[in-house]
Amino acid sequence: MHQSTSTNMSGARVCLVTGGGAGIGRACVDYFAAQRHHVLAADLDPQAAAQAAERAGAQHGIECLGIGCDVSSRADCEAAAQRALARWGRIDVLVGNAGVQLAARLLEADESHWDRLVSVNLKGVANACRAVLPAMIGRGDGRIVLVSSINALRSPPGMSVYDMTKAGVIGLMRSLAVDHGREGVRVNAVCPGATLTDHHLRVAAARGQTQEQLREATRGYALLGRVAEPAEIAAAIHFLASDAASFVTGATLVVDGGFTIKG
Ligand SMILES: NC(=O)c1ccc[n+]([C@@H]2O[C@H](COP(=O)([O-])OP(=O)(O)OC[C@H]3O[C@@H](n4cnc5c(N)ncnc54)[C@H](O)[C@@H]3O)[C@@H](O)[C@H]2O)c1
Repeated sequence: MHQSTSTNMSGARVCLVTGGGAGIGRACVDYFAAQRHHVLAADLDPQAAAQAAERAGAQHGIECLGIGCDVSSRADCEAAAQRALARWGRIDVLVGNAGVQLAARLLEADESHWDRLVSVNLKGVANACRAVLPAMIGRGDGRIVLVSSINALRSPPGMSVYDMTKAGVIGLMRSLAVDHGREGVRVNAVCPGATLTDHHLRVAAARGQTQEQLREATRGYALLGRVAEPAEIAAAIHFLASDAASFVTGATLVVDGGFTIKG
């Protein structure tokens, strides 16, 4: 499929990152590029995707591209996968990261809240997996890492629909691991704890807090006394996608500085 137009003479691995324009996704674009992957950053914001790809590509000397993609659209996800295949001839890794973080108790969650969370965090993750699986199965090798959350495992107040979608991501991860293990596809999930991303900076700015004030306010989090940097989540995602994790599939890796065991 599109092999003839491939420029992947180097044999470098190819990674598609959804939500690659900001936060954890952008850190993944950078991390995988540093590990000699061609990366396609797919994001609702095409400019952010292009900038993340351009920066990582220039910094690490490997071609990376950005593409506008709404993961809630099956067609957009197919188009993103086809873009990577057309350019590089293969897809080794999917980081299913794109997600929205909206808070509400079930009683206050209106239909648009439900629709947004379910269409991006659940259907969007499934759409991305569906788009890359045929190429991975065709090569008998694929690595999918889905970004869930510690909210799948424990529940802060007022996050019911978000928490449900993140638990659903783990359910999808398990079932894909079962269905596609014999076809050479490993599927795992990470559950990040609080991570200082663009999302949190936006929320803080909306309440008049600077980045420094936000950092100060998050001191003491978890067993390590701080929140995560996006690159620390990207490193865990890369581990699961790498040959170092060649016998790991169906696993959920909690990356939260010990927050969930703290009680
Ligand atoms: N930041 C945290 O503390 C934290 C903790 C646990 C889990 N997570 C999960 O990590 C993932 C990334 O979170 P983040 O904090 O980096 O978020 P962020 O808001 O900083 O970045 C998310 C990126 O996804 C993109 N995006 C949103 N909707 C999209 C869509 N429909 N299609 C394609 N792209 C879309 C946005 O444009 C943005 O570039 C999410 O799935 C989130 O639930 C984050």
